[in-house]
Amino acid sequence: DMALQEKKPLEGKRVLISAGPTVEAIDPVRFISNHSSGKMGYAIAKAARNLGAHVTLISGPVNLKQLNGVNTVNVKSAQDMAFHMKAHFPDCDYIVMAAAVADFTPEHVADEKIKKMDNQNTINLKKTEDILAYLGKQKTNQKICGFAMETQNVLENAKRKFEEKNCDLLVVNDLKVEGAGFQGDTNKVTLIKKDGNKELELMSKDELAYKILEELQKV
Ligand code: CTP
Ligand code: CA
Repeated sequence: DMALQEKKPLEGKRVLISAGPTVEAIDPVRFISNHSSGKMGYAIAKAARNLGAHVTLISGPVNLKQLNGVNTVNVKSAQDMAFHMKAHFPDCDYIVMAAAVADFTPEHVADEKIKKMDNQNTINLKKTEDILAYLGKQKTNQKICGFAMETQNVLENAKRKFEEKNCDLLVVNDLKVEGAGFQGDTNKVTLIKKDGNKELELMSKDELAYKILEELQKV
């Protein structure tokens, strides 16, 4: 049977993927987060698994079904996500940073619920670590795919991220394009690589997942 003999393109490869939002606690009942559904990252994890890879998925809180055959680590904060990405990174061949990591987190997490009577209506924030930039600095043989979400000066901003974070591939989401973005099942993106940009058609996130992995194997 030919189909059984055929070697899958990612067999023997280790792929590390982050997905979903991060959740930054303010106090025991409140948090800062974003609208990421995790669908894109999960689609990439599923595609990588189907292509024969050993897949580790570092997932923020999402409402998606666990993927069979994918080693999933559930995390909450940007700091948790950074910890697990760094732990798995050295052994990996491909990294896809699809998570929408919070850029800021509360400077202090209150131990007790903040009471309105106390009129404490400001929260001091500090920057989170840029996980993708960190991995880009540390990489040896790994190929790294980042994402960028932009609403203006889309390609200029994205190109800067591609360079500053030392990516091999960057998937650019323009939140203002119909069919693109956080919640839906389709996406319309541009891929940035060293040798130029590739504007892709509107397609399902599942289809795009294969496309991204195909490009990442070529860079
Ligand atoms: N990213 C990360 N760690 C952070 C913030 C972002 O690893 N603390 C990653 C995202 O997962 C994504 C890429 O960096 O792959 C770009 O994220 P984006 O939010 O578009 O860009 P930022 O660099 O955070 O800049 P800004 O939000 O100001 O546009
Ligand atoms: Ca950001």
